[in-house]
Amino acid sequence: MKELVFATNNKHKLQEVSEMLNGIVKIHSLAEIGLSGDIPETADTLDGNALQKAQWVFERTGMSCFADDTGLEVDALDGRPGVYSARYAGEHCSFDDNINKMLAEMDGKTNRKACFRTVICLIDKEEKKPLFFEGRVDGVILTERYGKEGFGYDPIFMPDHFAVSFAEMPLEVKNHISHRGRAVAKLVEHLKNNK
Ligand code: IMP
Repeated sequence: MKELVFATNNKHKLQEVSEMLNGIVKIHSLAEIGLSGDIPETADTLDGNALQKAQWVFERTGMSCFADDTGLEVDALDGRPGVYSARYAGEHCSFDDNINKMLAEMDGKTNRKACFRTVICLIDKEEKKPLFFEGRVDGVILTERYGKEGFGYDPIFMPDHFAVSFAEMPLEVKNHISHRGRAVAKLVEHLKNNK
């Protein structure tokens, strides 16, 4: 079975993505291969950050690896916070700080449309070029928090065609329809066809 390093320090993501790739590839976390430290993500696009993170791991390990970058793009905020979603409420802010800021900025807004977009960059040591896979889910920003599951903006994001937030869904359901789930599905397709 192919082995891939997932370039993330986010344990929620590691769990989500490992479940989706179970039986297809063996995933190694950064901790498992002894890599620590903050992975740089200073690009101003999702593609740029995903590439930067995957390259950081590849340069240090020579192992095939992938990284993802996600942004929450809100219509009424002209696509913000987008690539800056993690630091929306400032450097070293918490998920809670980001949600509070979003609820405040969206207060009174009637257009609540938003989407999550994920870009995965795969650097396969057998391939010459990095490959990119994108997933997207559309939905709305809620007016208050609902649910305790997941992470990040999950309690205030309700995907289209559902009556609950991401944080109210079992992980399998979220994985099936989410931005990251859809990007990983494309990655899985590629990996199955290129064993
Ligand atoms: P990252 O660059 O992929 O780590 O994502 C940037 C930020 O987007 C994270 O810090 C979270 O706040 C948010 N985010 C990413 N994925 C999700 C998700 O599945 N649900 C809710 N928020 C997310």
